[in-house]
Amino acid sequence: MSKAGIKHKNILTNSIHCGDSAILLKQISDDSIDLVITSPPYYQQRVYNYSTMGIGLEASVEKYLESLMDVFCEIIRIIKPSGNIVYNLGDKYIGSSLSLIPYRFALMASSQDKIKLVNNITWVKNNPTPRQFDRRLVSSTEPFFHFIKSSQYYYDRKSFESSKPPPKKINKPTSRLGSKYRELIKLADLTNLEKEKANKALDEVISEVRKGVLCGFRMKIRGIHAEAFGGQSGGRKQQIKKQGFTIIKMRGDTIKKDVIFSPVETIPGIKHCAVYPLGIIREFVKLLCPVNGIVLDPYLGSGTSAIAAKIEGRNYIGMDVDPVYCSEAEGRIKNVSKN
Ligand SMILES: C[S@@+](CC[C@H](N)C(=O)[O-])C[C@H]1O[C@@H](n2cnc3c(N)ncnc32)[C@H](O)[C@@H]1O
Repeated sequence: MSKAGIKHKNILTNSIHCGDSAILLKQISDDSIDLVITSPPYYQQRVYNYSTMGIGLEASVEKYLESLMDVFCEIIRIIKPSGNIVYNLGDKYIGSSLSLIPYRFALMASSQDKIKLVNNITWVKNNPTPRQFDRRLVSSTEPFFHFIKSSQYYYDRKSFESSKPPPKKINKPTSRLGSKYRELIKLADLTNLEKEKANKALDEVISEVRKGVLCGFRMKIRGIHAEAFGGQSGGRKQQIKKQGFTIIKMRGDTIKKDVIFSPVETIPGIKHCAVYPLGIIREFVKLLCPVNGIVLDPYLGSGTSAIAAKIEGRNYIGMDVDPVYCSEAEGRIKNVSKN
């Protein structure tokens, strides 16, 4: 077993605790955990061992959601004000109709006092179950819901790489850079002062592109380009209205999107049937938990969350009701080292 650390009543960090998480979580101190990341058993999807204590075999979706919410409320209690909560859930067809269980859970969870839903991040499975249906498409996505309990939540945006597109080819700026906009400013129905300001702003942005500070830009001029919909005061629509133009600067850094492409993982020799991809969890750990912080997974399964925490230099607490999974997870964790 990994080196045990800080003690939470009877719960040690860097160790796995076998039992019902609804009971074990009561031993964790208030406001003490940096990140809870987990994937609870899906509704009537699999019969796990020790299923009498397990979540997922309730007689109705409503009862299942109630069980999930009981544990979620404990999680709110143990999360630091700067903490984050990530829940991954799968959906289920009942009587040939999709139940939207993950979204029903997210609605209930985000209606709790103080809890806010920051993102619904879609995991796109590159290799979904190779099953074809005549009259419906194969489900190949699952949501990861990111909740917080205060606006002071820890967030290391620059560490998040998962939605990075292939690198873009950046062309060297030509001598004609911006000339099209120069012509349009001349034609536009702007006052002389507005035209002067637009040309000055254009000079500045061209110089930034030439210096390599920006990789490109776009300009929108009143009466020439289509207006943006909606918008707040100070937004682009207002800028176009008030000063006659707006410039959209392209910095070349990746837009961090709420989509993660990753194949479903199976690990040779591991009995667990619902392992989530280590790469995704490592990304969330880096994004949402400070170095040396504590990551807790109340449904640890094969140990993925703890492994991700260990590799990324964070502490972990794992819980699972099944002793076979607990020892399997311990075996996996022993074999990984800090990055
Ligand atoms: C979907 S799996 C988690 C898989 C995990 N994310 C992984 O990567 O291996 C859900 C796990 O919850 C466990 N479980 C079910 N009911 C539980 C309970 N009441 N307390 C703790 N664990 C429970 C099951 O044994 C199962 O391993």
